[in-house]
Amino acid sequence: MRVTVSRKGHFNAAHRLYRKDWSDDKNQLVFDKCSNPNFHGHNYELIVSVTGEIDQETGYVIDIKTLKEIMKEEVEDAFDHKNLNIEVPEFKDLNPTAENISVVIYNKMRPRIKPHLDLEITLFETPRNFVTYSGN
Ligand code: NI
Repeated sequence: MRVTVSRKGHFNAAHRLYRKDWSDDKNQLVFDKCSNPNFHGHNYELIVSVTGEIDQETGYVIDIKTLKEIMKEEVEDAFDHKNLNIEVPEFKDLNPTAENISVVIYNKMRPRIKPHLDLEITLFETPRNFVTYSGN
């Protein structure tokens, strides 16, 4: 029996979408308001899902307290109330789009989840706009 265990998380962060190697005009053309040089913020919501066989001893796929702790350390402590472009090293040379943020979250969490369990990240940048990454 493969079962999926999920937990919701949240962080507030500022960002700006732009490429250093593009002109201001091209950044403005491609990223529009999201390229505002003074940054802007989002209330990011995420759902982290872990899928695998139920452990016959504990009855758990993963202890959700463990999942909570990993999300706090790898996502919330790292990103909450930060400027992603300036304060989060992973985005020093990586555009902090929802797509790239979901990949960064996955890559930070993956080593801390047992290898036989599948991991999926769903990241909401707004209540209507969200992306999903599961390592492929
Ligand atoms: Ni934005």
